[in-house]
Amino acid sequence: MRVLVTGGAGYIGSHTVLTLLERGDDVIVVDNFANSSPESLERVARITGRHATVHRLDVADREALDAVFAAERPDAVIHFAGLKAVGESVAQPLRYYSENLGTTFSLLAAMDRHDVRTLVFSSSATVYGDHQPAPYREDGGLLGSTNPYGETKVMLERVLTDVAQADPRWRIALLRYFNPIGAHESGLIGEDPRGIPNNLAPYVAQVAVGRLAEVGVFGDDYATADGTGERDYIHVVDLAEGHVAALEHLRDHEGVRAWNLGTGRATSVLELIAAFEAASGRPIPSRVLPRRDGDLAQAWADTTRAAEELGWRASRGIAEMARDAWRWQSANPNGYDAAS
Ligand code: NAD
Ligand code: WQD
Repeated sequence: MRVLVTGGAGYIGSHTVLTLLERGDDVIVVDNFANSSPESLERVARITGRHATVHRLDVADREALDAVFAAERPDAVIHFAGLKAVGESVAQPLRYYSENLGTTFSLLAAMDRHDVRTLVFSSSATVYGDHQPAPYREDGGLLGSTNPYGETKVMLERVLTDVAQADPRWRIALLRYFNPIGAHESGLIGEDPRGIPNNLAPYVAQVAVGRLAEVGVFGDDYATADGTGERDYIHVVDLAEGHVAALEHLRDHEGVRAWNLGTGRATSVLELIAAFEAASGRPIPSRVLPRRDGDLAQAWADTTRAAEELGWRASRGIAEMARDAWRWQSANPNGYDAAS
């Protein structure tokens, strides 16, 4: 299959490109490197022995995107490109709405013009907002997220649902990721956030490697087993494989459908720190801070639908996630920046 991947140089994108190349697909990446480095795709080529074709452009640039579709003639698209920082979206809502919606409208127009109507879309568990207790099930309806970033995902799920309902030729998978962490087992590619990480796992990894001094634990008075927040962390390679399962499903299913991609298991902040201590063999200093605004006590997936319909289940546990994240972080303490 020829698969066009927007945002393919990013964290989840690069792991998915790797998985696609390994199974023999031809991959075309469209990325403007706004939040990534071309080095990630060089590393993917080193691991797989195959190259994705890379086009450096903004997905919102309709003319340039049109030319890529005309030249590359993909069979399907995976759409990762977008902005993803929750706090930044609260401070800059207009930027988030216009970027995340604008790039997706540009992409849908190009797909429609070139008769490519198979799409896998990066959604998020954030679409569940705070409307139902964990585990989250896909059939609860879209009631709204708690921040502008999450609202862009809610809105885009609605747009894509309307598009597929208006024209039965569309085949669209809405994949609601829980908390992707970890890295490819080679240690050659991984998560490389710019500046101080917003998310727990890369923060902990940077403390372990000595780049940051200590982890702030955002609250230890939640109604959870150890008082700290619980999340459904999923290994990024399991997540990449979930995209392949969705593409396969779309081969013989029209319409639009949402699937959770998580493990169905909850891990607390303290348990995640302990897993990184075990993986790195180093103590990871931490200090309890006040709760972070907008955080939920618990979030994890009901994974039944993905298992039954996509035949996909996450297979890697927390120890493996921490081990692989540590292999990447310790071999690349400054991410791709120091790459020669
Ligand atoms: P990332 O920032 O590492 O990757 C996004 C990629 O898109 C980057 O390579 C960036 O340069 C590119 N990009 C951004 N805007 C672009 C544009 N206008 N044109 C071309 N390229 C552009 O992020 P990620 O963690 O890999 O996330 C991928 C997708 O998954 C995003 O849509 C994100 O919202 C979603 N998601 C991520 C998480 C998470 O925790 N990482 C969780 C749920 C959903
Ligand atoms: C995990 C846990 C924090 C940092 C976010 C987005 C979500 C999705 C994934 C894109 C929580 C605690 C964190 C720290 C801490 N992204 N924590 N100290 O908030 O579950 O999800 O990323 O769609 O939309 O909201 O992930 O990694 O930020 O936090 O104690 O320095 O770690 O309170 O309990 P979150 P996270």
